[in-house]
Amino acid sequence: MKTWDTLFTKQKPEEIKDNLFEIIGKEWFLISAGTPDNFNMMTASWGTMGVFWQKPITICFVRPTRYTFGFMEDSDVYTLSFLGNKNKDVHKVCGSKSGRDTNKIKETGLLPVTTGHGGITYEQARLVVECKKIYFDDLKPVFFLPDEIEEGIYPNKDYHRVYYGEILNVYVKK
Ligand SMILES: Cc1cc2nc3c(=O)[nH]c(=O)nc-3n(C[C@H](O)[C@H](O)[C@H](O)COP(=O)(O)O)c2cc1C
Repeated sequence: MKTWDTLFTKQKPEEIKDNLFEIIGKEWFLISAGTPDNFNMMTASWGTMGVFWQKPITICFVRPTRYTFGFMEDSDVYTLSFLGNKNKDVHKVCGSKSGRDTNKIKETGLLPVTTGHGGITYEQARLVVECKKIYFDDLKPVFFLPDEIEEGIYPNKDYHRVYYGEILNVYVKK
């Protein structure tokens, strides 16, 4: 497995020039957690980045029903990997199949890379945000949403767990 420094350079969080609405909501990203020997990843398109408790942070949302959830719970460090719009095929697999019964690495051709604090990203990534878990909470059904939206998103009441991650490193493709 390659290490990050062979493919990426580091950037400061405030140097990220991308429009977050575009890259989070439209390009999408992979949330990856675990160890180089045992990790999982899933597609996400909800989240944000900004500042909280005087720290640069990311916020992402993982339902407890995802296989990735257990890896997020067991990991201090996780990554958000942006693959560019040309890798939508990867997201088709990682956003619909579960690591419980699919080898998503084999099926997508993703090439794992280790990050500075022991996280996992991929050779295909163009931008990677390595995060340290600093807070979580579970959404509660107190939404000010029309019933049909709430019921559409949570028919099984599996409300997302919200993870706040302190940004440890931002990597961009060399
Ligand atoms: C575009 C897109 C965005 C998604 N965003 C999220 C998300 O933010 N949170 C979440 O829990 N699941 C999200 N999913 C669903 C997971 O990616 C999907 O259930 C995945 O198969 C879970 O894999 P796992 O069981 O291996 O963790 C999204 C799926 C797609 C296609």
